[in-house]
Amino acid sequence: MNAPVPPQLPPDEVFDWLDAEAEKRAGAGLTRKLRPRPAVDHELDLAGNDYLGLARDKRVAGAAAAAALRWGAGATGSRTGSGSLELHTELEHELARFCGAQAALVFSSGFTANLGAITALSGADAAIVTDKHLHPALIEGCRLSRADVAAVAHATPSAIKHALATRRKPRALVVTDAVFSADGDLAALGELAGACRAHGAALLVNDALGFGVLGEGGRGAVHAAGLAGAPDVVTTVTLANSLGAQGGAVLGPRRVIRHLAESARSFLFDTALAPGSAAAALAALGVLRAEPALAAKAIDAAGNIAGHLKAAGFRVELPEAAVVSVRVPSPEVAVSWAEACAEQGVRVGCLRPPSVPDGVCRLRITARADLTESDVDKAVKVLSATAPHGATS
Ligand SMILES: Cc1ncc(COP(=O)(O)O)c(C=O)c1O
Repeated sequence: MNAPVPPQLPPDEVFDWLDAEAEKRAGAGLTRKLRPRPAVDHELDLAGNDYLGLARDKRVAGAAAAAALRWGAGATGSRTGSGSLELHTELEHELARFCGAQAALVFSSGFTANLGAITALSGADAAIVTDKHLHPALIEGCRLSRADVAAVAHATPSAIKHALATRRKPRALVVTDAVFSADGDLAALGELAGACRAHGAALLVNDALGFGVLGEGGRGAVHAAGLAGAPDVVTTVTLANSLGAQGGAVLGPRRVIRHLAESARSFLFDTALAPGSAAAALAALGVLRAEPALAAKAIDAAGNIAGHLKAAGFRVELPEAAVVSVRVPSPEVAVSWAEACAEQGVRVGCLRPPSVPDGVCRLRITARADLTESDVDKAVKVLSATAPHGATS
């Protein structure tokens, strides 16, 4: 059989296929629009990830500004080139000390930290076993890994155990979120660690939603599960959520961190974290150490919002961390509800595929440690007043 002849397209038609893709997304209710916000924002922001309200804290933002003036606007190179700063080392040391890990490695984002950790700790002679509700950063890491990947039913440790027991590859890595993005529920970390130990596997936990809010003084879900410092557990975090900064990190055994620093491609071939972001994360960590009650305040605020919404009849689970998820029947309803809230001065998140698994849509309401009772009242009133038909049970 002859190979199909490639179409001869004029240059201005080469990207015509993108219009069809955009139409497909529109038909499925998955169009995404950017809504730039002004520096002085009059909306109540319940869509960001600034759980502790530290992004605009003067100690944190001031540290970023001072570091940019002292070290420069950018790191100027990769960590193995000219970009490694004493600031990075100090941040790594403090992160590891705070979380009880042997060592830490800072990346330019949580996304690159997850890509780097998953790919460098798996490979073609490994099996990866995951939960189907993983954050997209983890899914991309698994796709790039060249490992055999088994994604099992959500929150089903027995399925993880089965996949580990029946794998065809000698090495295995279980990859999970600590707190799942879609519903804000917690992974059974103790049970997963037990399964890994029974089957000679390592456990990688993405604690993006738990770090800063769960565990003693915000030390995270891995610390709370008694797994900090374990020889077979690796944790990833973003510095952009609870710390209100930017960047990501991997925490774990010293030999894992060394391996990542020498082989994780999203570490080696990426410009190092900007000095301002590293300094902001360090300052935020200092604030969290000095004010450990911030973590519980964020959790309490989430529980308060969820309790009010549940009482108003919305389909809400009581949250395990700082995010509250409200079930919504379709992507279109999620978008129009979030837009109606924004028109009334309350910004909420809108979770549609591929942020969450197909068929699952949510409004995401993010609590913050600095929310007042009147903020919570306003949020509940606006969500109730704008609720679409079918949003309550
Ligand atoms: C819940 C969640 N949000 C965001 C991110 C991405 O982090 P960042 O924004 O630092 O890239 C991750 C992980 O990569 C995550 O798990």
